[in-house]
Amino acid sequence: MNAHLGFSTVDLAAHQSHPEPVVRLRDFTRRFGANTIIDGLDLDIAPGEFIALLGRSGSGKTTLLRTLAGLDEVRGQDVEVPDSRAVVFQDARLLPWKPVWKNVSLGLKGNNGRDRAEAALKEVGLGHRLDAWPLTLSGGEAQRVALARALVREPKLLLLDEPFAALDALTRYRMHDLVLSLWRAHKPAVLIVTHDVEEAIALADRVLVLDKGRIVAEERITAPRGERASFAGRLREKLLSHLGGDDHGEGVVPFAIAAE
Ligand SMILES: Nc1ncnc2c1ncn2[C@@H]1O[C@H](COP(=O)(O)OP(=O)(O)OP(=O)(O)O)[C@@H](O)[C@H]1O
Ligand SMILES: [Mg+2]
Repeated sequence: MNAHLGFSTVDLAAHQSHPEPVVRLRDFTRRFGANTIIDGLDLDIAPGEFIALLGRSGSGKTTLLRTLAGLDEVRGQDVEVPDSRAVVFQDARLLPWKPVWKNVSLGLKGNNGRDRAEAALKEVGLGHRLDAWPLTLSGGEAQRVALARALVREPKLLLLDEPFAALDALTRYRMHDLVLSLWRAHKPAVLIVTHDVEEAIALADRVLVLDKGRIVAEERITAPRGERASFAGRLREKLLSHLGGDDHGEGVVPFAIAAE
């Protein structure tokens, strides 16, 4: 165990023991035809926990996220997720024919949609783009709108599927700060899928590696987010060894995250 270093390896054989997890999967399996993509997976996520999910391309990360989002059928499986969930994908998926605020308030009940959208957009720094058209936004702005659209629903579980993968390094780094501040303000449990090991280490309380349908590594990071540089290299190597390949270094500026 390396707990004194700021992170520790979780014993995968030991059952996770959060008293009342917000997500609970037991022996979850997902097949497409003859291909077993998720193979008897157990997963607990505690309320307010921030999890990063790593795994090679095709390892089933999006499949798992879609399950947690309720986008796929899970009939007969032991899957518990909260009712209030929200998802942000790599592309913002905004409706181009609706102004920004309507994209954010889409589907909300009540007649204060514009006010709620405005409050959420202010939180992501876009209070001035309420009436803008999605096609006039930069990629980073569009992702911030997608975050606002997710958060306006006050989800207990926020699912992020490579949300910053298409952004430049500096924008991505700013998005890390933003996501952490939104997470602290709203306290959802977060599961972020990423290919970027640095991003995982900079953001998460716990990093999971998915391979061949199972969680093959799990690291709990106890160090505050501003103080992870000292062990990040070691942890990165460890996670990469589980990912079974070289890092493709996407140029993220790590660890300059605001202090806890
Ligand atoms: N609806 C589907 N029908 C058939 N096969 C599917 C379907 N959805 C996913 N798959 C297959 O399941 C496997 C896992 O896909 P998934 O999208 O979950 O991977 P991923 O880990 O998110 O990959 P990436 O990092 O490239 O996004 C892939 O082989 C994919 O082709
Ligand atoms: Mg995917």
